[in-house]
Amino acid sequence: HWVSMPPSRVETIDPRKLHISGEFVEDNLGTTLGEDGKVMVRLIAQQYSFEPQCLVVPAGMPVTFRATSTDAVHGFVIDKTNANVMLIPGFIATFTARFDKAGERLMPCHEYCGTGHEAMWGRVQVLPAEEFLAKAKGGERMSCVPR
Ligand code: CUA
Repeated sequence: HWVSMPPSRVETIDPRKLHISGEFVEDNLGTTLGEDGKVMVRLIAQQYSFEPQCLVVPAGMPVTFRATSTDAVHGFVIDKTNANVMLIPGFIATFTARFDKAGERLMPCHEYCGTGHEAMWGRVQVLPAEEFLAKAKGGERMSCVPR
């Protein structure tokens, strides 16, 4: 399977333990603004949703994503960006994207992952940078999933 994986910077993780410990536990998912000013989004894909289902990111700033899958091979693209990634159980995918304009983007799963694949869509809410920074100041994880 190395054919489909980049040979360098491969990070692995045990997909059976994602919810129990480590960086992908539930309360570590979503968007954070680090003390270094870097924006980081962590998410999980599973049949047939993303967690969180709605991501909050700032416009005009680099945003680093870290993501993985708990079950099948998933992936996503984000409308009007170059974000395009495969999520493979056991591997952490990471990439950096930039969102030019504020607004809503769609984030469909783009790998066939089973009978619910067609309904597996997330959303991305791109906020103006000032608005994002004001909301992120508290340091807690952000998402736009209604509570
Ligand atoms: Cu997940 Cu298709």
